[in-house]
Amino acid sequence: MTTKQPDGWSSKLGVIMAVAGSAVGLGNFLRFPGLAADKETGGGAFLIAYFISLLIVGLPICWVEWTLGRFGGTQGYNSSPGIFHAIVRKPWGKYVGLLGFIIPVGVYFYYVVIESWCLGYAWNSFSGGLDLGKDPAAYATAFAAFTGLKADGAILGFGGPFLFFVGVFVLNFVIIYRGISRGIEFICKWGMPVLILIALILLVRVMTLGTPDPTKPELSVWNGLGYMWNPHDIGQGLSNPAVWLKAASQVFFTLSVGFGVIITYASYLKKNDDVVLSGLTATAANEFCEVGLGGMITVPAAFAFLGASAVAGGTFALGFNVLPQVFAGMPYGHLFGGLFFTLLFIAAVTSSLSMLQPGIAFLEEGLGLDRRGSVTLLGLITAVGCTLVVWFSEGLKALSTVDFWIGDIGIFLQGTLLIYIFNFAFGTERGWTEAHQGAEIRIPRVFKFILRWVSPAYLTAIFAMFVLKNVAGWNLSFTAAAFTPTDPILDIVGGPGHPASGVARLTAFFLLLFAGFSALMIQRAGKRWDAR
Ligand code: PHE
Repeated sequence: MTTKQPDGWSSKLGVIMAVAGSAVGLGNFLRFPGLAADKETGGGAFLIAYFISLLIVGLPICWVEWTLGRFGGTQGYNSSPGIFHAIVRKPWGKYVGLLGFIIPVGVYFYYVVIESWCLGYAWNSFSGGLDLGKDPAAYATAFAAFTGLKADGAILGFGGPFLFFVGVFVLNFVIIYRGISRGIEFICKWGMPVLILIALILLVRVMTLGTPDPTKPELSVWNGLGYMWNPHDIGQGLSNPAVWLKAASQVFFTLSVGFGVIITYASYLKKNDDVVLSGLTATAANEFCEVGLGGMITVPAAFAFLGASAVAGGTFALGFNVLPQVFAGMPYGHLFGGLFFTLLFIAAVTSSLSMLQPGIAFLEEGLGLDRRGSVTLLGLITAVGCTLVVWFSEGLKALSTVDFWIGDIGIFLQGTLLIYIFNFAFGTERGWTEAHQGAEIRIPRVFKFILRWVSPAYLTAIFAMFVLKNVAGWNLSFTAAAFTPTDPILDIVGGPGHPASGVARLTAFFLLLFAGFSALMIQRAGKRWDAR
């Protein structure tokens, strides 16, 4: 009789590639350049706040997740609720871990939709259908048609966009069904090098653009780089709390830290596998792709062709309106455009897979389902969530509602809880020793102090600002104090001159339902675990 081998990583490089695959995503190639070039946050101050956040919360919490994940794995748990159950050893522990199930699955609801836009745009670009001439309005119209921006339900049916969505959705589950080493690891091992190769080709193309229009010498790729990277108004930027908020949440988002993802991936390691160097390597790979590639391609190219005003319109506008127009203006633009959207698509798949695995792990070990059962149940849950996002597409309302509650509030909460649990339930000293078990390098000692005092204080302060800004509507430049909540909250409760939105309410209701359902599942899981 053959005993079934437990699923796990087949090599050290494999797990690093998988974590890097999770980290490198749309955040690197769209969100980061968008923020760095933004009128409010840009100008160098953002980058300073970003690197500080990277050092005092990103990297340390990444190490914490690797450490606690591997620890949970050695106790026989792979899901965030299970791992927290093993760490806290009190009935409430597993409920803290709940967030590590809800958040990644919730982010998947909309991330996979954007992923399908990328594939659709790659296809349209290669086939020449994205060259719409010089009129910017044509690109905005095409984007609205592809995403259903103008009316709810607009892309349902057998048209292209919907088929792309269904195809991408199914593809993710096919890969996940194949398991850790044959699914995730396999895709990331091939996907990451291809992604970097494509990015390098695009980088060379962009750096050799020079001055596309000789009659406008100020519009050059070098000035585009300067626009993005030359510091200005630093003092003013750094005194604006919004800059710190955005920098910290970008760090979480881009590293996939604070989602329950790394904790799950690391749980498949063995007791003496290194986590310190691996965590550092995955982080460094992400930063290379973010700063070195993401920060050099999109904004300079857009600036060289269309100038500063085109660059500052937000993430989606930059990616799906401005860049297609830029590609249309260069020789072989359909090829470069196709490559660019393929790059986005590969980056997105390796990330969305990592949002599903925490769910699979939990359904398997919490409810005792087999692979087929867990894939089916998670497929059903995400199908409902995604349908909401795809159906209520007008103004991307459902998408932004999920993004706010899960992608903004959720990750801050989860990251903050994680660091408190590490220090107080696990113990800083014990955690430090645990991290160095089997480690190939030592973490500089100052990080122990940072982990214990600086990261929790920093996160708590940022979270407090976040709540003040969104709930109390405190003007974050500290100048005026007009106490009105921000839009995502007004959308739900309504307010003077701002009627509540039915779609936002429905979406929030679904998220609550999902959270409640998850809590019930966790209660059941607890019974199984206590009986172990
Ligand atoms: N890190 C990914 C990116 O930069 C996003 C992500 C979020 C991945 C949550 C996994 C989990 O796009």
